[in-house]
Amino acid sequence: MERAFGAIDAISGSIEVPGDKAIAHRALILGAMMMGTSNLHGFPKGKAVGSTRHCLATLGFDIRDGDNLVEVVGAGWQTPDFATLDAGNSATSMRLLCGALAGRPGRFELTGDQYLLRRPMERVAEPLRKMGGKVSTSDGRPPVIVEGGPLAGADHDLEIASAQVKTAILFCGLQADGITRVKEPTRSRDHTERLLRWLGARITTGTREVTVEGDPLFFEKSGFSLEIPGDFSSAAFFITAACLVGKSDLEIRGVGLNPTRTGLLDALREMGASVEYQLTAEDVEPLGVVSVRTSPLHGAEIAGDLIPRSIDEVPLVALAATQAEGQTVIKDAAELRVKESDRLDVMAKGLIALGARIDTQPDGLVIEGPTKLHGGLVNAAGDHRMALLFALAGCIASEPVTVSGWECVSVSYPDFETDLERLAAS
Ligand code: S3P
Repeated sequence: MERAFGAIDAISGSIEVPGDKAIAHRALILGAMMMGTSNLHGFPKGKAVGSTRHCLATLGFDIRDGDNLVEVVGAGWQTPDFATLDAGNSATSMRLLCGALAGRPGRFELTGDQYLLRRPMERVAEPLRKMGGKVSTSDGRPPVIVEGGPLAGADHDLEIASAQVKTAILFCGLQADGITRVKEPTRSRDHTERLLRWLGARITTGTREVTVEGDPLFFEKSGFSLEIPGDFSSAAFFITAACLVGKSDLEIRGVGLNPTRTGLLDALREMGASVEYQLTAEDVEPLGVVSVRTSPLHGAEIAGDLIPRSIDEVPLVALAATQAEGQTVIKDAAELRVKESDRLDVMAKGLIALGARIDTQPDGLVIEGPTKLHGGLVNAAGDHRMALLFALAGCIASEPVTVSGWECVSVSYPDFETDLERLAAS
């Protein structure tokens, strides 16, 4: 499916974006682990969270739609002896469930679509094996076979900062004997730690370290009611667009402002953007209002700790850099090569085809700006974030940009076009 996006005059007005996907995946699984009904308010649409929901339904959990909420009926994580689980395009579903199922007696096969079948899974299988889980991959990739059973806590020193791997280990650790410790090179998003603490798990957290104690009583606790904040990663598209498009003046309300997620705000500020935020509440997660006005940007170096804090938003930094005065260097971002696509390659190729000046490095990009982007045809390579990136490129280009493979946007942000139209018109 192709979609064309043309230049817009401004991104203005006030909006609330759909609920946070990362929190939704975790809350669904935790709801299934506990007893009775959990209510997840503001649950987002989209095929990625739909994949976790589908896998849990295959495992026999009752999940229902309510009025702007999803209800999951937990059963203390009682699962069948055998199941084949289709995680679709969602590595989060697959990796989190590998950890959660490693403690369950039975045999579980986790598979996915053609893109997920290419993604690395040993990073999650290896630490689970260290705890006694029988987890095998197919040459490092899915399908993954999990034969769960008794587990023992262990220490893990991760080579890569990954919230998916960390969460899989913590879900496994909850079911293990003794204490499980995870140390990361830099801190990744901490939604799991926050939810576990809130739900009464025996968890401690340091700057780059988290421990959890196995606790059979955790699985006897009753369900919970959670307000899922707006997804910062969805807000990120409009925040970036408002920095770049004409005379924009945008406000995003009720958006998650967990500091382990908001690296994009720091990156854009480094580049001279006029972006402010205000916290309005902090319950399980901080949330608030982000305000953005268009302003001239300049090049910057985006690297180190900022990368895990903006892991899904680095492509937006690259787009902003094409409009910034001078050179922007993005490094320490080799992880982007193993996302839904090789994002460094796909975004560089696509943006270069639209007139950007980009040099691709093994772990990042060097971007010379500013360049006026022109129109053209770009391929999303089956990657929802690439499709959305190229749509924004169309908003600032001199002629329309046509995105082929647009349908993959349904993975993360099915209502993107409606929200963009609203903000472009106000
Ligand atoms: C996610 C973690 C990140 C991110 C992904 C969602 C999560 O992946 O890119 O979109 O929900 O834990 P990694 O853990 O592989 O960095």
